[in-house]
Amino acid sequence: MKTVAILVAAGSGTRAGGSVPKQFAPLAGKPMLKHGFDALTSHPEVDAVYVVIGAGQEEALRAALGDVPFAIGGATRRESVASGLAALGEADRVLIHDAARPFLPRAVIDRLLAALEAHDGAIPGLPVADTLVAASGASVPRDGLVRVQTPQAFRYAGIARAHAAWPGDQEATDDAQMLRALGMDVAIVEGSPMLEKITHPADFAAAEARHGAAMR
Ligand code: CTP
Ligand code: MG
Repeated sequence: MKTVAILVAAGSGTRAGGSVPKQFAPLAGKPMLKHGFDALTSHPEVDAVYVVIGAGQEEALRAALGDVPFAIGGATRRESVASGLAALGEADRVLIHDAARPFLPRAVIDRLLAALEAHDGAIPGLPVADTLVAASGASVPRDGLVRVQTPQAFRYAGIARAHAAWPGDQEATDDAQMLRALGMDVAIVEGSPMLEKITHPADFAAAEARHGAAMR
């Protein structure tokens, strides 16, 4: 069974600021995207990792990871994932992961691939700890709500079909949503606090303080 990972790293990191897009910035001793790349590459069931980068980032990619398979992404995350899917050709299973979630425990990949035996897709989630209210002030029951992370795991045929069928003018915040739109089932497995996304400038220091020692 062939399992391929797509590491999406074609964003501009607007909210994080900085002189280079956040995924190329240093974090716990490596460029951010190298953490996720190394975690995926070293997993025994992952056969190849394709990195999706922005146009003009080829040199930055080579400096960070060497000569690795890559594709050029698009204006949205969804388009970047689609470029990755088109580049990798045939596979049985695909893991799609944000370079902006650098600290990826192996146990999460294990749980995702195990769940994929019985489901069309599998995603990591964590329970919501805070009380939720709508902007109107009405409270929102948090039972049954999870915060969704990546990697997300799919059978190749299902995710390729979901991307092909998705309306081009509509945004999608994650890939599982596109699968569900076609009636396919997506399992939720336990995520990890280590998978928090690096979004704002303060997230670098916070993530490094919390998890850096484990990731160096
Ligand atoms: N991503 C991508 N292609 C895009 C947009 C996002 O590959 N056109 C990737 C990012 O590189 C990141 C992941 O999707 O690894 C999650 O996106 P996000 O955290 O929003 O990163 P950015 O879009 O780069 O940041 P911002 O929204 O602040 O500009
Ligand atoms: Mg973004």
